[in-house]
Amino acid sequence: MASYSWSLLPARILIVLLLVGYATTTHHHHNNHVGKNATNQSLQQAYVALQAWKRVIYSDPTNFTSNWNGPHVCNYTGVYCARHQNDTNALVVAGIDLNHADIAGFLPDELGLLSELALLHLNSNRFCGILPPTLSNLSLLFELDISNNRFVGPFPSVVLALPSLYFLDIRFNEFEGQLPPQLFNKKLDAIFLNNNRFTSVIPQNIGPSTASVVVFANNRFGGCLPPSIAKFANSLEELLLINTSISGCLPTELGFLYKLRVLDVSFNQIVGPVPYSLAGLTHMELLNFAHNKLSGIVPEGICVLPNLANFTFSYNFFCEEQGICSNLTSKGIVFDDRRNCLPEKPLQRSKKECEAEKPVDCFDHVCAKSTSGSAVVTSAASYHIPLSSTPPP
Ligand SMILES: *[C@@H]1O[C@H](CO)[C@@H](O)[C@H](O)[C@H]1NC(C)=O
Ligand SMILES: *[C@@H]1O[C@H](CO)[C@@H](O)[C@H](O)[C@H]1NC(C)=O
Ligand SMILES: *[C@@H]1O[C@H](CO)[C@@H](O)[C@H](O)[C@H]1NC(C)=O
Ligand SMILES: *[C@@H]1O[C@H](CO)[C@@H](O)[C@H](O)[C@H]1NC(C)=O
Ligand SMILES: *[C@@H]1O[C@H](CO)[C@@H](O)[C@H](O)[C@H]1NC(C)=O
Ligand SMILES: *[C@@H]1O[C@H](CO)[C@@H](O)[C@H](O)[C@H]1NC(C)=O
Ligand SMILES: *[C@@H]1O[C@H](CO)[C@@H](O)[C@H](O)[C@H]1NC(C)=O
Ligand SMILES: *[C@@H]1O[C@H](CO)[C@@H](O)[C@H](O)[C@H]1NC(C)=O
Ligand SMILES: *[C@@H]1O[C@H](CO)[C@@H](O)[C@H](O)[C@H]1NC(C)=O
Repeated sequence: MASYSWSLLPARILIVLLLVGYATTTHHHHNNHVGKNATNQSLQQAYVALQAWKRVIYSDPTNFTSNWNGPHVCNYTGVYCARHQNDTNALVVAGIDLNHADIAGFLPDELGLLSELALLHLNSNRFCGILPPTLSNLSLLFELDISNNRFVGPFPSVVLALPSLYFLDIRFNEFEGQLPPQLFNKKLDAIFLNNNRFTSVIPQNIGPSTASVVVFANNRFGGCLPPSIAKFANSLEELLLINTSISGCLPTELGFLYKLRVLDVSFNQIVGPVPYSLAGLTHMELLNFAHNKLSGIVPEGICVLPNLANFTFSYNFFCEEQGICSNLTSKGIVFDDRRNCLPEKPLQRSKKECEAEKPVDCFDHVCAKSTSGSAVVTSAASYHIPLSSTPPP
């Protein structure tokens, strides 16, 4: 890599631009007029867009945009140019990375002029308002990360109109209301929705999804996990439903997600037994059921999963650990079985508490409709990586 001229581009941006077909370079040589003209038109539009943006930036404490002056937009801090896929003489703005700039402001309509943009990273700023509908013009946009800002309003449906979108991160904002089912029909690889105010139950009518990571955590969904979760079967590896006010029983269909490596449903109001189908999830490494109202046995089929490394099921009402489940140490599995109703184990719930918990028949159990965010959470969870507000490497 070191011998190429694109060393000015951070590695991740480079990889994305290559993925979407840009010939990345930082050289500025043009050898014909057509290319020069096309370059000028595209960069002129970018110039208009970036100047409009700068006008609605009200605080820039690190002086990130202080060199956003004049027509040479490729020299602006955080702006990355590349050669156009089909016209290698034309230079275009292909990436914008303002991560951690702590900028306060809005996104103006003129951002729609950045029609060659493949990557937009705004993590950890103070942008507020909504995403302008003109962003639908960004037909090459591959990665959109607006996490950890102050965006509000309903789910930003403009992202549904982005045909090339592959990575969507809108976590740590103040979006509210329902999630559109179409979100899960898009060819996305990663969907980070956590730490917003979404209130929908997970949509029932979702199509086959391509996502490998979906993080719903810390929203106010309510309702049950629907059987349509099976639509993620061919791709999903990490599913995080921590603290989403989910109730009802776990659907058998959860066991259809044969690629799952991480499943975390902790801090909800899930009842009933663990579906035995989960014993088929041979890639499972991290399984967390903690802080729910699950009951019945902890099935041995789960405890013998070949890749299981960490199995947490504390703060439930399990009354039996089947077979080897009672001695996970012997399998080298990190576990937490505290605060259940396990007669042989230390640090369990009182007899009175255990007797008060009535068994649940999942066939009869009516799925509770989304209520007004009535999640009762008793202690702080310590999260693993996907919940951090910094983008994955
Ligand atoms: C440059 O673009 C303008 C406007 O599209 C056009 O009128 C002009 O002929 C082009 N010039 C060259 C040299 O291609
Ligand atoms: C495009 O060309 C015009 C006319 O030569 C010039 O004024 C303008 O600054 C150029 N824009 C960019 C972004 O290079
Ligand atoms: C930003 O620029 C202003 C004005 O030029 C200066 O006072 C301030 O110290 C700069 N801040 C940083 C973080 O460089
Ligand atoms: C852009 O920056 C490079 C390196 O900092 C500099 O050599 C070049 O003159 C600048 N280009 C323009 C047009 O300002
Ligand atoms: C390049 O050309 C191909 C085929 O005409 C087209 O599908 C693609 O969208 C073009 N790419 C860009 C970046 O315009
Ligand atoms: C969309 O992009 C094209 C250039 O590709 C531009 O001419 C047009 O003005 C843009 N539309 C909006 C709404 O920004
Ligand atoms: C659970 O989510 C709610 C918002 O939906 C939040 O206020 C609360 O702090 C979260 N609980 C934990 C343990 O993170
Ligand atoms: C095991 O998983 C739990 C819940 O996700 C987590 O809190 C704990 O830190 C993990 N333990 C190890 C050793 O990875
Ligand atoms: C758990 O298994 C280990 C090793 O197989 C054994 O030494 C230990 O006595 C067992 N503990 C219990 C409580 O059965």
